[in-house]
Amino acid sequence: MSSSAKIWASIIVSGLMLGTTAHAAEPGSYGVGATPTSDQIAQWSIAIKPDGSNLPPGSGTVSQGADIYGNECAACHGTFGEGAAAYPKLAGGVGTLKTQKLKTVGSFWPYAPILYDYINRAMPFYAPRSLTSNQVYAISAYILNLNNIVPDDFVANAKTLAAVKMPNRDGFIFKDPRPLTHDVECMSHCADAKALVITSDASKAGITPKTTGPVDNMQGSSAK
Ligand code: HEC
Repeated sequence: MSSSAKIWASIIVSGLMLGTTAHAAEPGSYGVGATPTSDQIAQWSIAIKPDGSNLPPGSGTVSQGADIYGNECAACHGTFGEGAAAYPKLAGGVGTLKTQKLKTVGSFWPYAPILYDYINRAMPFYAPRSLTSNQVYAISAYILNLNNIVPDDFVANAKTLAAVKMPNRDGFIFKDPRPLTHDVECMSHCADAKALVITSDASKAGITPKTTGPVDNMQGSSAK
């Protein structure tokens, strides 16, 4: 046996002694781990978009939700969403955002499907992900009903939750202060790039941090 063959033999033996499983390595991979099954991916892929996409099958009524909420949520959030101790209120406050700023599901949240998402992934606080989808639908229906957003006979499901218009739907406004500019590529009679001369730049205006030296020594920084 040549010496390199001996080395390989001993590597293989130590691999076997360590109980290494011999996965056939794909080119460009280390050959460890396994491709997740679609079921495993589904367990993680629980994010629900504001438009309701990815909401699961199932449904729940307001009165079913009242029962489940009473058992699982009321201790912290109050029977009618009024909050207990320092735990957040889930109902009320509609129209107060400019004055008292009472943020609840009813006054603040812009989309109903994300209520499902939040409860499903985070509540009850001590046992997240312990509720079935029917239970989460029912509790969502109850909380929306507490906020007078849906009627007593509302049945929450993927379709009806997506169709709910929350009071603060249009409250999240982002105005981009930058002017809208369109840069059109020059195709004819263009300036000769080589003939262009830079006559001024911002470096002498005292607004650009120096790029040499340590960060805390930058121009304009109070740290010296
Ligand atoms: C042990 C106390 C407790 C229980 C029980 C509990 N929650 Fe919560 N809940 C909290 C706390 C604490 C927060 C704030 C969490 C945070 O901000 O990170 C919260 C936040 C929430 C919010 C977000 C409020 C907001 O506007 O930011 C919702 C909705 C909610 N809970 C629903 C529920 C539902 C539905 C249940 C029952 C299935 C439940 N909670 C059970 C403690 C609890």
